[in-house]
Amino acid sequence: MTEEMIRYYARRAGEYERVYEIPAWQPGLAELRRRVAMFTGRRVFEVACGTGYWTEILAGVAACVHASDLNAETLALARARPYPRGNVTLEARDAYARHAGPPRWDAGFAGLWLSHVDLTRMDEFLDAFHSHLRPGALVLAFDESDDPTRRSRGSRVDAAGNRYEARRLDNGEQYEIVKNFVDEPRLRAALGARARRLAYDDLGRFWVATWEVT
Ligand SMILES: C[S@@+](CC[C@H](N)C(=O)[O-])C[C@H]1O[C@@H](n2cnc3c(N)ncnc32)[C@H](O)[C@@H]1O
Repeated sequence: MTEEMIRYYARRAGEYERVYEIPAWQPGLAELRRRVAMFTGRRVFEVACGTGYWTEILAGVAACVHASDLNAETLALARARPYPRGNVTLEARDAYARHAGPPRWDAGFAGLWLSHVDLTRMDEFLDAFHSHLRPGALVLAFDESDDPTRRSRGSRVDAAGNRYEARRLDNGEQYEIVKNFVDEPRLRAALGARARRLAYDDLGRFWVATWEVT
């Protein structure tokens, strides 16, 4: 299933950014862009950066951004963006792979990613993500909230509680991917002792959470 999700985003890379034009997303996106100011002067590790939509915004305020994604197709689009301050590095990297050596970054960013983490692998992902981040690092994660006007409907729920959606690309290819709606109690429980000062806000079509790495 994880493999199918990776393939889906590789094949979807060229059409992905249409989501950022969804009218109902605009107020939430504007608020998220404002919140990115919390990274001013920070060294940011970004997981699953996709086409680099947020990488470019982060790079406008952060000291530097190290953006990672598993797919060469999405990374190529992220690499092609203008980064006038020359402060972005990109890496093909599995979000579940731990960093060997001391953590290098004092901020972490995860956009539209946690919904795709299989619930049975959440600990593995959070351990890997935090392995890049120094104690005291600031994290911002956001993702979609459930909404009756979303076009994608749930297809099934598995034994672990993962919710799935059927997705179709312009070329007709069909995929089934994990798409969980992460609420505050679930996020708080998953983070456990890894985080302090967790704040979770409802932005309508998105939820946004910030925390500090312990
Ligand atoms: C919904 S997109 C989010 C992209 C970007 N963060 C954004 O907000 O626009 C999910 C991304 O996760 C990437 N991805 C899927 N599995 C991954 C994995 N195991 N490790 C790293 N990236 C992965 C996909 O290539 C895709 O770019």
